[in-house]
Amino acid sequence: MPDQLKDQFIEELRASNDIVEVVGEYVQLKKQGRNYFGLCPFHNENTPSFSVSPEKQIFHCFGCGKGGNVLTFVMEIEGISFKEAVARLAEKSGKSLPESFKTEHVSPANQEARNILEAHQLLTKLYHHLLKHTKEGKDAYQYLIKRGITDETIDAFQIGYAPDSKTFVASFLEKKGFHLQTMVKAGLLSVTGENSYIDRFRGRVIFPIRNHQGKTVAFGGRTLTDQQPKYINSPETDIFHKGKMFFNFDLARPHIRKKSEAVLVEGAVDVIASYQAGVQNVIATLGTALTDVQAQLLRRYVDTVIICYDADQAGLEATIKAASQLKKVGCYVKIAQMKDGMDPDEYIQTYGSESFHQHVIQANISYMSFYLKYLRREFNLQLETDRIRYIEKALDYISAVDKPVEREHYLKDLADEFELSRETLTQEIRYRRRKMGKYKDNQLEERHNNSSSLKKESEKLLPAFHNAERYLLAYMVKDREIADYVQQELGGAFLINEHQVIVTYLYAFYEENHQADISSFIEYLPDEHLRNLISKIALLPVSDTTSNREIQDYINVIRNEKLRKELHKLELEQREAERQKNPVRAAQIAMEILELKKQQKHEKYK
Ligand code: GTP
Ligand code: MN
Repeated sequence: MPDQLKDQFIEELRASNDIVEVVGEYVQLKKQGRNYFGLCPFHNENTPSFSVSPEKQIFHCFGCGKGGNVLTFVMEIEGISFKEAVARLAEKSGKSLPESFKTEHVSPANQEARNILEAHQLLTKLYHHLLKHTKEGKDAYQYLIKRGITDETIDAFQIGYAPDSKTFVASFLEKKGFHLQTMVKAGLLSVTGENSYIDRFRGRVIFPIRNHQGKTVAFGGRTLTDQQPKYINSPETDIFHKGKMFFNFDLARPHIRKKSEAVLVEGAVDVIASYQAGVQNVIATLGTALTDVQAQLLRRYVDTVIICYDADQAGLEATIKAASQLKKVGCYVKIAQMKDGMDPDEYIQTYGSESFHQHVIQANISYMSFYLKYLRREFNLQLETDRIRYIEKALDYISAVDKPVEREHYLKDLADEFELSRETLTQEIRYRRRKMGKYKDNQLEERHNNSSSLKKESEKLLPAFHNAERYLLAYMVKDREIADYVQQELGGAFLINEHQVIVTYLYAFYEENHQADISSFIEYLPDEHLRNLISKIALLPVSDTTSNREIQDYINVIRNEKLRKELHKLELEQREAERQKNPVRAAQIAMEILELKKQQKHEKYK
């Protein structure tokens, strides 16, 4: 395929994949002025400095400096190559992929991961088929139906059955041409004795674990009896990192985005039951405690997480741990509670979907209310000493709440319950906050919330010529005429090294008759660092119509800075010549200085 057609295809691809929409699948974006803001998916942050421009079709993070267009975003976030990103976007927008984008060199490690992934897709289908259509699967199917799981849900989650055989899967995979040692790595087979491979999952209900793209990357197998262990899960592999993903994230994601809220439960069956009950924004960790990576991942999509863990001691403790992790990354945490040591699945089975919605999910309470309730269990509130100790402890926790409105709310509850005066409690809080070093908090919060003021501050710190170059570049990528004018006046004589490189590429870009288009220019730049920088510059607030005066001013600032630097250099040389008692050289330099000073004056009045 000729390069020109390739470029054209890429251009069409970018045109049909709106960056706001694509980024929006990974980051919760909020409109602010012309641009959208959200939490950067490429570094950890609690206040949004990641921006997306719908007009320019680019993104940039003011925190970590990453930037680019829709294609580079998909490459970065999925950790895939350019061609893979092209394929991904083509599929999304229903375009057929030209041949030249299909072929790709695949490294061995990559190939192995592909094989593991493919084996999982085949087995998902096979297990599902066995559950639904064979005699061997009948008991497992009945088991699921008895647990209240419908046919529709069995299909949606592709639930399956692994037959009680040592070699069923092993010989299936062998016939399909898979390397059995790789399948051991994949956690689908185990080795016994010499070169003898046996199935890992035997006689169990199979819950496929899908990644965010809906591809099966692991399995969880549940016994139908009271056999131990209850669950056998896939080990960590190249394609399965359980601390970095959630069960059911692919199906829940659109619902999570729509509500900006996620429901977090403990087990896979709880997810399935909740989803079936109509709580579709539901996810679970994979048999482990919530990790920091998972908390950060979730924070990108939601403001609020409702934790609905099992109502037993272990569940309570896990709730407190997960909540503190989620709060740390800036989520608002609510708790949905059930009585009687139940888990969501058991609750739904006993009381039905409607009750689960109303009395569990909707009836959620704030994390603080939950925590205070939890705390009370340690005290006998009939006793005066215990009562005071409880109030002290509650005040400690309330003091740590940063939102004044929220603090006020809990304070009122506490005052009402123990018939205390609000004034006394307020004083106590103030005292505690001062001790925590929090009394200046409000001001700080305000500064953090206002990311644009932060941006301006950092801009102010740059020397004038540096900003002049940045603004000039911003105009030049927007308007070819301006670029032509600057080329004629300044050429490549930008003072900042990277700017010099960028203008050189920009002149070439226009000479090849590309239209002014920042998103396509980003494609043209060969280096990630340059792409990051130009994305940032292109987001500078430049006006749509500019005067020649403004452009000329920037050019003059740059020229003067250049002269100033040269003058400075000459003056140093002059001093050196004097020190070396070389009057001829010193006089020569003095002439050069004079000449430069004349130029400088001339520039000023130009
Ligand atoms: P059911 O008993 O089928 O209702 O499962 P559950 O979803 O109620 O599971 P439970 O709350 O007991 O456990 C939550 C999660 O922990 C499960 O989804 C599993 O991933 C994991 N888990 C539970 N039991 C075991 C086990 O025996 N071994 C392993 N490896 N993981 C387990
Ligand atoms: Mn359960």
